[in-house]
Amino acid sequence: MKIGIACDHGGVGLKRALSRFLKDRGFEVTSFGTNSAASVDYPDYAEKLCRAILNGRLERGILICGTGIGMTMTANKFKRIRAALCTDEYMARMSREHNDANVLCLGGRVLGEELAKSIVDVWLKTPFAGGRHSRRLKKMAKIEDSNLT
Ligand code: RB5
Repeated sequence: MKIGIACDHGGVGLKRALSRFLKDRGFEVTSFGTNSAASVDYPDYAEKLCRAILNGRLERGILICGTGIGMTMTANKFKRIRAALCTDEYMARMSREHNDANVLCLGGRVLGEELAKSIVDVWLKTPFAGGRHSRRLKKMAKIEDSNLT
């Protein structure tokens, strides 16, 4: 599976640790930065990763900022991106089974490294359950496609 990973300055340490974790498990990982503690704007990094998913270059993505909130909000502005902010393994499992999340958002200032690895592990191995959840995702996409303001 091709996975993208990106972060702002609040997620650099966790991005480094998760990139290594994923590569060690055989995933093809593309990093979109940032790679230093210098302050950057999280929407710039969320955009790069989401566009790579939408153009088919990547299957899934992981976004990390201080809380994970800004990355989640930004990613969900993109049509057909379903970004889930997860703080534990249960949320990670549900975001896949019920919501078919294609982007996982994490808080680099919220989660310890081992918990984050465990969340990523669950998120990557849990399939979408389909069934009634597909109907709900179709409704979500319909709202997205409508021009409601
Ligand atoms: C940056 O200081 C911080 O606002 C950002 O990493 C993130 O937490 C935003 O949601």
